[in-house]
Order: sequence, then structure tokens, then C-alpha cells
Amino acid sequence: MSIVNVKLQARPASPPAAIAGRPALQKRFRTEFGHESGLYRAPGRANLIGEHTDYNDGFVLPAALELSTWVAAAPRKDRILRFKSLLGGDALEFNLDDPAPSPRHDWSDYVRGVAVKLQVAGFPLEGADMLIDSDVPIGSGLSSSAALEVSVGFALLDILGVAVDRVTLAQACQRAENEFVGMHCGIMDQFISCLGAAGHALLLDCRSLAYRQVAIAPSVRLVVCNSMVHHKLASGEYNKRRADCEHGVALLTPLLPGIRALRDVTLAQLVAHQAALPEVTFRRCRHVVTEDERVLKGVAALEAGDVAEFGRLVNASHRSLRDDYQVSCRELDILAELAWGMEGVLGSRMMGGGFGGCTLSIVRTEAVKRFTSDMAKGYTAATNLTPEIFVCSPGDGVSVVAPSESAA
Ligand code: GLA
Repeated sequence: MSIVNVKLQARPASPPAAIAGRPALQKRFRTEFGHESGLYRAPGRANLIGEHTDYNDGFVLPAALELSTWVAAAPRKDRILRFKSLLGGDALEFNLDDPAPSPRHDWSDYVRGVAVKLQVAGFPLEGADMLIDSDVPIGSGLSSSAALEVSVGFALLDILGVAVDRVTLAQACQRAENEFVGMHCGIMDQFISCLGAAGHALLLDCRSLAYRQVAIAPSVRLVVCNSMVHHKLASGEYNKRRADCEHGVALLTPLLPGIRALRDVTLAQLVAHQAALPEVTFRRCRHVVTEDERVLKGVAALEAGDVAEFGRLVNASHRSLRDDYQVSCRELDILAELAWGMEGVLGSRMMGGGFGGCTLSIVRTEAVKRFTSDMAKGYTAATNLTPEIFVCSPGDGVSVVAPSESAA
């Protein structure tokens, strides 16, 4: 999720064929920095089901996308990180030995935060030059920030010659976002950007970090519709929802000794203790508790080949996010409701933090063409906005496209 004050603008996404590599980025790097570079990519993500459960120690089912952030990178002989984004702005630099690194409150905090947290985790980073580009639309709930963090972190570790432990990298990137950027996100986005696998979603237990791959049938496609709106309250409301959940746990703990998070509470227990919670807190908790159940039922349905049941759970997730968690908005509701009325759509819901960004629709492969054209027309008629629509297949997690010289 992107913080609201990120200054970069989204650009239309390149076709997934770009996955084959970005020779143009390496060429541009040569012009900018005067030497050769390695090339790294980390994906954005879709989340099939399990929204706002990750920071409640719960379950999520994300998939990596082919839309990616790309980093051309090469080592330097000093302790400087120098980096520039093709999405805009001048080159920036900072010293890895700065004893008190402080955020600038712009996109560069993701880069610097990752370097800071990798050093705290015990990796003695070397200076580097980096040129960054991205296909992941910024601030649209496809996790452009995690893609940036993970691609940069992976490049810095590869330059150091360290075999990258993907879980460690995901944790360092989450810490960068929590403690350096100030966004109290869970682990989902960084984890899937590190550990995604083509053709699969990943069932992740956000408490133990145990995970397993869940195959996505080729008979369905994941269609992401960008509402093209990003309401300003997003990051403040996100942190508030997190606080609501913690408040719920604090009020329930004397009644349910031993619980540590909403993950430990069943719906029957929550309902039994409804009177102990303010109305809004109860509804926030009910979303999380029922969403955890939907994730597990959804995985069972997918594994049994019952995509129709999976779709029903996806729709129920949207209603719960809209009514109990209250993180949807008019544009997301329009996108979801339009999809619900279309042939070949198994399910559709808002995705990510909320208040704008994208919906995800699970669409039968043969109905995709019709879906994209009807959706574009219907959404424009209702809102005067032109949606960006991405037909996606689950892709792989972060990778080295071409190693940098020191690591080769
Ligand atoms: C954002 C956060 C994630 C997760 C989702 C909501 O994408 O970065 O950690 O909490 O919102 O499910």
C-alpha cells in the first residue's frame, strides 16, 4: 500500500511481455551512471481473499502479479546509495553510515528504509547505484510499495553476494514500512512479492509464516480493475482500523484468557461477548473473524475444484469489508456490483487497504473479453472515469533477471 504523500504518478502498465527483461533500463542506467548494471524485478500482488487479516495474525491468500518494479543496480566503491526513478524526480543519495537516518516523507523512504532495516538485521551493505522503473500502478492497492521495497532489498543483498533468504527479506521490508515509512501494514504484501509462484496463490498463516501454494485453475483469470481513485484518508484510516482491532482484543482478553489476536477468537465467542464491545469495534472484529473463516473455506473450495463456492466467498468478503470494516468507497462498490451482474463472473471484491484502488474479479476464461469491455463501458457510464483493467495470471516472486558484476 502506498502512503498518500508519495509524489510519483502512475503510468499505464506495460504489457506482461516486459517480464522477459528490461534491456532498456540497463541501457539507461549506463547513460545515467556510466557503468554496467545487474537487473532485478519484484512483483506487485493481487489478494484473492483475506483482507485486513494479516495484522491480526490471520490468514491471507495473495498471488504475485506479472506487473513488477524493476531495479537496475551496480555496486559502488564508497558507502553511498544513489538512486533515481524513471517515474519522476531527480537522483537522490544517502550515506549508509548516517548514524541517524530520518525519513523525507516521500517515495525515497521505501528505498532508504529497506537499506536501514537490512543493516539493522546484520547485513553490512555496500554502496550502490540504482535506477528504478515500475509497471505496478502506484497507490492502487496492488502493492507498488512492497514491490519497490523487495526489488531494492533483493538487489542490495545480491550485490553483497548474500544468498537471499526470502522470508528474512520480507520481514526487513515490512519493518522498513512500519518503522521508517510509518505505515503499520502487515506482512502479506512483502511476503508474496518475495515468495510468489507462477500459477499459484499462497495460503499464508501470518502468525507462524507457514505457507503453502494453492493452484489457480487455468479455467479462471484474475481480472484487476483500477477504479482510478485513491481517497486521501487511506493510510490514516488503515492505522485506525488496526487500532480498532487491538482495542477489541484488549477488551476481549479478560473474557477469553489466552487470546493474543483476533485470529484466536471464533465467531461464536465474539457474538457471545458482543455486549463487552462498542458497536463499531464489534463490527471491525466481526469482519476479521469471518474473513479468516472465508480464507480457509476458500482454500478448501479451490482445492476441491469448486470455483463457484470460492466466488461466493469472495463476494461475501466484499460485503463484509463494505459494511463491517467500512473500507470500501462508492467507486469500488460500483466496480464490484457491475461485476456481480455479469456472465462468467464467479466473484468480485475490493482489494487491499481500501478507499480506492482496485477490485479483483474471478472470471471464467472464456468470459474475460466480454467482461473487460462491458466493465469499461459500465464503469465509465456510472462515474465518468476510465478504469485500467489488467487480466492477470499469478506470477513468480522477486528474481534476478541479470546478475550485477560483483555477484556474477
Ligand atoms: C495493505 C497492507 C497489507 C494488508 C492489506 C489489507 O495492502 O500493506 O499488509 O493489511 O492492506 O489486507
